[in-house]
Amino acid sequence: MRVGVLTGGGDCPGLNAVIRAIVRKGSFHYEDQFVGFMEGWRGLLEDKTIPLDLSTVGGILPRGGTILRTSRTNPAKRPEGLDKCLATLKQHGVEALIAIGGDDTLSVAQKLHGKGVKVVGVPKTIDNDLAGTDFCFGFDTAVNVATGAIDRVHTTAEAHNRVMVVEVMGRDSGWIAIYSGIAGGADVILIPEEPFDIDKVAETIRLRHARGRYFSIVVAAEGAKFATNVNNGDNITQAAGKDEFGHVRLGGIGNALAAEIEKRTGFESRTVVLGHIQRGGTPSAFDRVLATRYGIGAIDMVHRGDFGCMAALRANKIVSVPIADAISSNRKVDPEMIEVANGILDKLSSDKEIVAK
Ligand code: F6P
Repeated sequence: MRVGVLTGGGDCPGLNAVIRAIVRKGSFHYEDQFVGFMEGWRGLLEDKTIPLDLSTVGGILPRGGTILRTSRTNPAKRPEGLDKCLATLKQHGVEALIAIGGDDTLSVAQKLHGKGVKVVGVPKTIDNDLAGTDFCFGFDTAVNVATGAIDRVHTTAEAHNRVMVVEVMGRDSGWIAIYSGIAGGADVILIPEEPFDIDKVAETIRLRHARGRYFSIVVAAEGAKFATNVNNGDNITQAAGKDEFGHVRLGGIGNALAAEIEKRTGFESRTVVLGHIQRGGTPSAFDRVLATRYGIGAIDMVHRGDFGCMAALRANKIVSVPIADAISSNRKVDPEMIEVANGILDKLSSDKEIVAK
């Protein structure tokens, strides 16, 4: 079978491991041939391809990024964009397409499936907010990077009697913030799911310091929002424009928080923005294994004729779920994780619910 592969949206550690698994299992077990579309959906719009075979995927398992490169191109926003994609697939004799991406990339996959393309999805985002699957590959690596950074920030916060705010990724969901906050022993964790009251955050920190602790660590997802008292409760953004999928560029909550905390408590505060460091570099062992399982799952789905579906992890088994379900909503942080965080966070606050309140 001739199978097309592409990676779309923000990059993610483990993309190369997925590509490698698809090509190896497809070549060894099904005698498939592959064509790689470059730079996400742009590759189909502009007919940019590379041959994808056993030699192309040699040595890529531990490498970050993606050998197919990526972009946030949305064919549905271009005149005749979807039809151009169909024409390119036909021209290359592609019988099935594997799209590795988050909800944006998979929403285009779903549209093409509606036009008759035999498509299989693989869930990718460090934000871990895709519905239908328990974990996306790349998330574990991002959490490890963020946790390592929080550990480092701890010692400098302690040395200077400071409040350190660590801003992590997480546009709509606070998975990275809550996992790295728990793993790194943060004192306050702020997630997009629930806007927070800055006065309560400041009170929590003041009471903690009154008890003899002279430094604090705050972990905030980039999508965390002040309840209403700062920036009208809107997301803090870096630029006015939106990308082709309608997303604003988030960033700046860390600096805003540090300023508001310092103003309210008088404690010297600093910010660290981890940004794309969380997405770069080599995948963790967990992500290499998960990405490999997703790749194998996807090529098996192609040969089972399981189209319009995405490989997913459910209760530690790779299963198939409809792409339509996966893109229907954003997966929010599990309430149980919020309970876990609240269980170990400082209880001296008058309001004990510190996370997301
Ligand atoms: O992939 C999701 C994400 O990591 C978000 O958390 C973040 O807002 C966004 O990507 C940043 O994307 P870009 O690479 O386009 O700046």
